[in-house]
Amino acid sequence: MSQQSQPNILIFDSGVGGLSVYQEIQAKLPQLNYTYLFDNAAYPYGELAQDALLQRVEHLIIPWVEQQLFDIVVIACNTASTLVLPSLREKLSIPVVGVVPAIKPASSLANKAIGLIATPATVTRQYTRDLIRNFSSNKSVELLGSTRLVDMAEEKLRGRALNLDELATILSPLKDQIDVAVLGCTHFPLIKEEIQNVLGEAVTLVDSGQAIARRVQSLLGIETGEKSGQAHTIFSSAPPWEEGALNEKLRELGFTPIRPFPLQDV
Ligand code: DGL
Repeated sequence: MSQQSQPNILIFDSGVGGLSVYQEIQAKLPQLNYTYLFDNAAYPYGELAQDALLQRVEHLIIPWVEQQLFDIVVIACNTASTLVLPSLREKLSIPVVGVVPAIKPASSLANKAIGLIATPATVTRQYTRDLIRNFSSNKSVELLGSTRLVDMAEEKLRGRALNLDELATILSPLKDQIDVAVLGCTHFPLIKEEIQNVLGEAVTLVDSGQAIARRVQSLLGIETGEKSGQAHTIFSSAPPWEEGALNEKLRELGFTPIRPFPLQDV
């Protein structure tokens, strides 16, 4: 099948976090044409007011999806997905896949307690409270919201080493308290090894990436195909910091250099 006839997927996040989801989808469906958009002009989403975030995501995604020939969109951001999915699904005619904290699978794995590591916004969302009430009522869930962890993943993707002492301080409320940790922010699988290192091997880390890849495959109704010169394009809503270092990492992931988001007024 030619590049033109392969499905076009849009993956969206505030920053580089959605690349963890991209990697899972790409491993399963290398034949797709990938477009990645990150709204770094409004980063971090975990500190935005709900109304502002909802308007922002709608404002970026809806006109663009209407203008381009995307077949499916993945909101590769827990902070946005726990808020915007109903309204986006109502307004778009293509499938919208969201990423939300993997509380349900974590609950069946845990014997002791679960730690939900996410953004400050995600841990306070009604959506998250409902997930915990519906799927983990018999296990205690410790909530840890941190923007600094999100920043650390952004730094790692620019080639900076993580400070493990700082990471240990951030994660200290969970240390020895839990046996399963949910990585409830798409940035965190990018620093998974370091988180594992700090929490210890006895803690199982769970994220939503593979489930999202399966969901995309089932919605598109296609088998795993061949990679043959597919488009991998990445856009940002503002010039990213340390763009050169970031582009180098993005090249390893298969992307061409970052371009400015084509719709004005964002
Ligand atoms: N990657 C995003 C998430 O999954 C959030 C990062 C941010 O705070 O901007 O929640």
